[in-house]
Amino acid sequence: MSKVLKADAAAIGEAAVILRRGGLVAFPTETVYGLGADAENETAMRALFAAKGRPADHPVIVHLADAALVDQFAAKVPDAARKLAATFWPGPMTLVLPRSARISDFVTGGLETVGLRVPGHPVAHALLTEFGGPIAAPSANRFGRVSCTRAEHVVAELGARVELILDGGECKVGVESTIIDVSGKQPAILRPGAVTAEQAATVLRESLTAGSKSSPRVSGSLPSHYAPKARVELVEAEEVVSRARKLASQGQKVVVIGPASLQLTDRGIELLIAPRGDESLAHALYSLLRQADELGCDVVVTSAPEEQGIGAAIADRLRRAAGPRD
Ligand code: TXA
Ligand code: MG
Repeated sequence: MSKVLKADAAAIGEAAVILRRGGLVAFPTETVYGLGADAENETAMRALFAAKGRPADHPVIVHLADAALVDQFAAKVPDAARKLAATFWPGPMTLVLPRSARISDFVTGGLETVGLRVPGHPVAHALLTEFGGPIAAPSANRFGRVSCTRAEHVVAELGARVELILDGGECKVGVESTIIDVSGKQPAILRPGAVTAEQAATVLRESLTAGSKSSPRVSGSLPSHYAPKARVELVEAEEVVSRARKLASQGQKVVVIGPASLQLTDRGIELLIAPRGDESLAHALYSLLRQADELGCDVVVTSAPEEQGIGAAIADRLRRAAGPRD
């Protein structure tokens, strides 16, 4: 089993030591838990990809203690990036920038750009400061699976594949950072998150294009990602109940994630109550999907919120959870 420690100063010190000798540690950020490794140590990075079960040509996000460090890791920082960084860092946003010589191929999977993020969580910040270098950290889940928003989830996902898990309680945001590509002519949102397209557009005084240049290497942009073991069916809100009943009548074990007002008590259907309000739902989303798996259901039936604010991120993750699988 992996070691789990409450994320106090001593544990953070221990985590930094592990990182320095090339080990892996999981730590909380305000979005989801990250699986961290020394971004400048190739052996550690190989171990990171192996622990996640992630293909070696997928780029990972590099975490920095302070926005002032961005010039060391990006070859060029356009005006738009500076504005976004000044407004949203530390926070739930990743900027894709042209990489500097300090970022190796084993971090970017050979891409000429790098995803950089300055997290706002006090434990992540303390770890980055204590370690004193860039920490590469994908979400602390096995490749393609649901991200972790609690230390227990990381134990379930990675077990002994990670040396130490810093327990910092529940992640506040609950979905991964907004990824904004500022390496091209026009800033583009590659992955929606808590920093919304609307907020970014206000800062930049121009609207951002969405997704588009999603290369298949951007794993979060693969059709099936962020997926529980159970199948996920995404339907219109008014069709949730009828769809769930239909599936249950066919003998499937169904979990519905929906509002308490649905009052579903049918045999074969379990209602997991989705909290009201998109921010609360984002916070609870991955826990709910994990709970559905724990109930051993065949299928999760749910609907997506409107694509406004963080609702866009929830809808994006649900679509990918419902996406075609191999
Ligand atoms: O909230 C988060 O971003 C969390 C926490 C731990 O920071 N991290 C996270 O990392 O979600 P990961 O590796 O699970 O997802 C990172 C996404 C992937 O879809 C990856 O392909 C994309 O970022 N990415 C990384 N570098 C990129 C680059 N240079 N260009 C385009 N996409 C990139
Ligand atoms: Mg991930």
